[in-house]
Amino acid sequence: MPAPPANIRNAIITGWGTSQPEKILTNHDLAEMMDTSHDWIVERTGIHSRRVGGSTVGLSVESGRQALDRAGIDPKEIDALVLATTTPDRCVPASSAAVQQELGMRCGAFDVNAACSGFVYGLVTAHGLIAMGANKVLVIGTDTLARITDWSDRNTAVLFADGSGAVVLEATESGEGQLLGWHLDADGSAERFLYAEIGGFIHMDGKEVFRRAVRIMVDSAQQSLAQAGVSADEISLIVPHQANIRIIEAACQRLGVPIEKAATVLHNTGNTSSASIPLALGAAIDANRVNPGDLVLLVGFGAGMTAASAVLRWGDGLPHHRSGGR
Ligand code: ACO
Repeated sequence: MPAPPANIRNAIITGWGTSQPEKILTNHDLAEMMDTSHDWIVERTGIHSRRVGGSTVGLSVESGRQALDRAGIDPKEIDALVLATTTPDRCVPASSAAVQQELGMRCGAFDVNAACSGFVYGLVTAHGLIAMGANKVLVIGTDTLARITDWSDRNTAVLFADGSGAVVLEATESGEGQLLGWHLDADGSAERFLYAEIGGFIHMDGKEVFRRAVRIMVDSAQQSLAQAGVSADEISLIVPHQANIRIIEAACQRLGVPIEKAATVLHNTGNTSSASIPLALGAAIDANRVNPGDLVLLVGFGAGMTAASAVLRWGDGLPHHRSGGR
């Protein structure tokens, strides 16, 4: 992947939002529905509970509104809405159109489907729009996987869940912040390992997905790091796709990033696909784990099989970091 051209308009994150449905489904609940156990799920995945319910539009509106409020932005100031989702509420129109309308925005809006890599695909696309002159872009990652999960299939039902996360990106002329490196990948030949027909349930070869996931996450992250010209030990925070704690541990180990630097929420979110990275990023921001100047690595993988990563130099755009005058 060629490096970003020098002197392009860059961007910083100025607001964030998250939302999850109210209904909590614990491992114990699942054990009453199928032949599984709390201990097996925790040991093999790290997941204790997950949230299910709601619609893609409803969850997106909630996280999007929160992000706009925190950024202190009127929805009408947004120049584009990018909604990453694998589970739109309808085939047509795109769910982003309904989100745009409900949030009271007047701008272009489109869905991006890159499965669990979708949020990073959306974030990179938003940076491209900003390089082309957009000033403010809302990026949302939302999935309602419960609707395409077979709740009698223990191979998949213990993993998937629903949620949403959003960020506001604002252009910066001063060189602060910045997307330093990015990488997007897809391998259509791997389709058979993870897919859902329209109107059908997710089918997955878990072992094969696991094996490929670690490899493509590490490969994508290394390409972004190389493009950014930084080494893994300079990374302050890694925000990986929240599929399985063992995948995250293996990827961190191969990258040479201590697991303590990983943002993880999967223990109580499960795998929320496009929402998983912004949910984990939001939790890290809430916990004051991100500060101006930090190098943050986002990295995801998903059906496709896709992979995506981005290295960000964190700016001072969040309300509690603002030095004033923005
Ligand atoms: N509860 C209890 N036992 C189970 C369960 C379950 N839910 N599922 C499988 N088992 C059994 C198996 O039958 C097997 O039994 P056996 O040894 O008697 O044959 C045993 O547990 C081990 O099964 P494995 O499939 O080898 O378990 P593994 O350690 O591979 O874990 C898992 C399975 C969790 C699915 C893992 O392979 C995984 O996480 N894969 C990646 C999945 C993933 O990340 N998917 C999302 C991609 S992102 C996207 O785009 C949506």
